Amino acid sequence: MKWVAVGDYDDLSRVAARIMLDALAANPLLVLGLPTGRTPEGMYARLVTECASDYRCFRDVVTFNLDEYVGIAGDHPGSYSSYMRQHLVDHVDIDPQSIHIPDGLATRFRDRASTFDEALEMECDDYERSIREEGPIDLLYLGLGRNGHIGFNEPGTPFDSKTHVIQLSESTRNANAAHFPDGDVPQRAITMGIGTILAARRVILLASGEPKREAVRRLHKERENTDFPASVLRGHPEVMVICDQETV
Ligand code: GLP
Repeated sequence: MKWVAVGDYDDLSRVAARIMLDALAANPLLVLGLPTGRTPEGMYARLVTECASDYRCFRDVVTFNLDEYVGIAGDHPGSYSSYMRQHLVDHVDIDPQSIHIPDGLATRFRDRASTFDEALEMECDDYERSIREEGPIDLLYLGLGRNGHIGFNEPGTPFDSKTHVIQLSESTRNANAAHFPDGDVPQRAITMGIGTILAARRVILLASGEPKREAVRRLHKERENTDFPASVLRGHPEVMVICDQETV
């Protein structure tokens, strides 16, 4: 695991965006794994700015988002589909057909399944199959939950898990409550599994700000253990952790 400590959030966003732009320049057919949350917002803003001058950078990429909430539509303002439209895909030349985000309503499978949960399982299996067919993911970015979650893989998630539905912890729901001003924070999410994440060729984890300090400390110190999901990255051959001074 390679550690890169940068000065502040702007530096982190710049370094993270540069890595993606360089990878895109080397391979325009890149398969990307993309995160949401506050941390990558600055990276996306930089990518949008840079790609305005070289408007072809995303034309041939394929993207897979890490996760999505269960029970809300893609056009709900709190959904990660909305997030991606707001921060990246409405501003660059990505082919809409090449953008993959789990559907938290499992719309395509509702008619074939006898329960909503069964439809969600079919959605997860289908997402995993798409990653397998169009992947492997060349470059996957992760944020870091305060409890060490990656994607929405909460503590206790098996390291060999594939895309699945997960019950969100109270701490994760609280951390994301701002996106649901009506107080109706979803209870569940679909997330790439830890095994899915580990199959990516290269992983970049971003951590910024004082609230992540304890999680960064644990990532630095702890051996692989399912109580702290991000620790699994220790076993991956190509991981870079980029963190700013407030986290160290
Ligand atoms: C959510 C996302 C994660 C993200 C985490 C941290 O739980 N599902 O993928 O890494 O939040 O978010 P933030 O960057 O806002 O701290």
